[in-house]
Amino acid sequence: MSVVTTATITPAPRVQGRLSVPGDKSISHRYALLAALSEGRSELSNYAPGADCQSTLTCLSGLGVAIERRGTTVTIEGRGLRGFRSPDAPLDAGNSGTTMRMLAGILAAQPFTSVVIGDESLSRRPMRRVMEPLGLMGARIDAVDGHAPLTIHGSTLHPIHYTPTVPSAQVKSAVILAGLHTEGTTAVTEPAQTRDHTERALAAFGFEAIVDGLTVSVRGGQRGRGQTLPVPGDFSSAAFWMVAAASLPGSSVTIEGVGLNPSRTALIDVLRRFGARVDVHPESVAAGEPLGTIVVTGDTLGSLEIAPAEVPGLIDELPAISALAARGGQVTIHGAGELRVKESDRISTLVTGFRNLGITAEEHGDGYTVRGGGTPRGGVAHAGGDHRMAMAFAVAALSAQSPSVIEGAEAVVISYPGFFDTLQRLVA
Ligand code: S3P
Repeated sequence: MSVVTTATITPAPRVQGRLSVPGDKSISHRYALLAALSEGRSELSNYAPGADCQSTLTCLSGLGVAIERRGTTVTIEGRGLRGFRSPDAPLDAGNSGTTMRMLAGILAAQPFTSVVIGDESLSRRPMRRVMEPLGLMGARIDAVDGHAPLTIHGSTLHPIHYTPTVPSAQVKSAVILAGLHTEGTTAVTEPAQTRDHTERALAAFGFEAIVDGLTVSVRGGQRGRGQTLPVPGDFSSAAFWMVAAASLPGSSVTIEGVGLNPSRTALIDVLRRFGARVDVHPESVAAGEPLGTIVVTGDTLGSLEIAPAEVPGLIDELPAISALAARGGQVTIHGAGELRVKESDRISTLVTGFRNLGITAEEHGDGYTVRGGGTPRGGVAHAGGDHRMAMAFAVAALSAQSPSVIEGAEAVVISYPGFFDTLQRLVA
């Protein structure tokens, strides 16, 4: 596996092959946190190899959790709801918003103060969305104008029924994890459905979470038990190959062992709408998470509009979806202001990068339009420290006339360290 800082992408007429993708990033974070909060040993296989999920393990180690990692197998000795040790240094969430926000929910209930720091990108991302509900539960969290570093003064929390204004699985999960530490029932009613891995993972570890429409609730004080669990392949990583196959006619890509949780797979219908053939073969369910094989075959090129209501179900796939328009057609995204507060301002990074590759793109307040006018010329695009930008530019550059350079390509280590090696294999 190679770590690169720039990647040169040679145009390719099609992608072809069979592959599996790394373990799911969202699920890996949750299994690690819940394993630590459970009693007894957990063994997680196919744990996400990226830096973000390592950040979660590093933070848990700082809290006294014994963790052993051999490749993608991680063994965690659970410490129960009250077993964490006061850290002797700040806990470093790196680039990972999921680590910082979900961990905040747990730390708010500990009998000690902890500091959570992040890299430059994470220190720019909004944390009030978790500070506010945790504050309503009785937590005291100091931040710098709503940004990390977070100093979390743990205290006794009380249950709430919270209705976030932004649909966010991270916020929902932070409140639910905090709720496990209260005496009473904590509930979150979401404004729109977001990924439900926390709810499923709670059940897998023996905690009871009740889901009723858009409301999830947990009783405090429950005890979880360590588990042996496999992590499914990451659908959001698979998305880049699905889009590459859909946008290059004559392509066919088969992705095995990929997570098919319906709160993550809205891209499948989007690709069908675009004109691609997508065959899905569900094969098994592990710890409540369905997985199977996806085959995408590129055919005609279409046009797409993504409506605001679709955004929560596609939030991590929007960069990949934009690359569909590299060769032809048009992609317009509406109601995706959340993209501005991801690992980079994804609206601005994406539009700038696409233009630098010779693709027509326009920014709107809460979205953008990408217009493929045939074969783009290729060029130099900068990932802006954002893994999904690096991968979206690489896929778009496959459609160009001449080779392109992706600067900051090393950002793929966040979720998909082997991305460029797999790309080489699929275009060969
Ligand atoms: C995630 C939730 C999403 C997503 C992120 C991972 C999670 O963020 O964009 O990559 O694992 O809960 P929000 O909850 O902020 O929408």
